[in-house]
Amino acid sequence: MRHVHLDKIKSLENAPKKINIFSEKEIKMIQELYNILPEITFNKKQNVRKKPWQQNFNKELDKIYFNRLKEALGDYKMDSLKSDKGEDYYGLFHESFSPLPMHVDSGFDEETIIYKQVVTPLIGPGDTIFFKKKWYGKSTTFTIDKDELNYKPKQGQNDRSCAHLGSKEFDKEFHKKYLTHIDINNLKGLEVEFIYNWKVGETLIVDRSYIHCSSSRINGKKLGLTTFTKK
Ligand SMILES: [Fe+2]
Repeated sequence: MRHVHLDKIKSLENAPKKINIFSEKEIKMIQELYNILPEITFNKKQNVRKKPWQQNFNKELDKIYFNRLKEALGDYKMDSLKSDKGEDYYGLFHESFSPLPMHVDSGFDEETIIYKQVVTPLIGPGDTIFFKKKWYGKSTTFTIDKDELNYKPKQGQNDRSCAHLGSKEFDKEFHKKYLTHIDINNLKGLEVEFIYNWKVGETLIVDRSYIHCSSSRINGKKLGLTTFTKK
């Protein structure tokens, strides 16, 4: 697939932005919400535990979160899946014990006007690395592994692709410092746009079309909240 409303999507894009929209107390409330929410996925292969932000566990916090995002983004809609009851999830908590592979969270519906990804670190340290290259197809994991590339994704799963590759060798020093969990040949032709150095208390707003991954810098585990939005 390829997004249909490409011009509109591109017209909404801009540089990654760090903002402070939550107080210390609110960050604590979000961390506490994470603790009481039920878990849905424990992906052993990626070593990540995911919990969706379900509404009504803390109604006051639901309201605060939605409205703070609105102040930062203007009009937006949630695009982070829905519960059985058809209610929007407000985001996805991801607790990871090893770094995530390179991917894009551009969504699964070609009609959607994808907008921003909102990342709120809750336990660090950690970094998210954004590459200059953008992707306007379906949500995809980028790999050079032949078995992975042959994998037929089920509904709601990322595509696999190596179409991100170019010819230029990736920066060896940068690889050594941040990306040792990724085969350097899987980074050919990529250039780094932005390193987001996680800071609890901060929130990052970034276009959903960016190819990105976490850095190899994890101290045991890290916990973040990500919300995908659309117009
Ligand atoms: Fe992501």
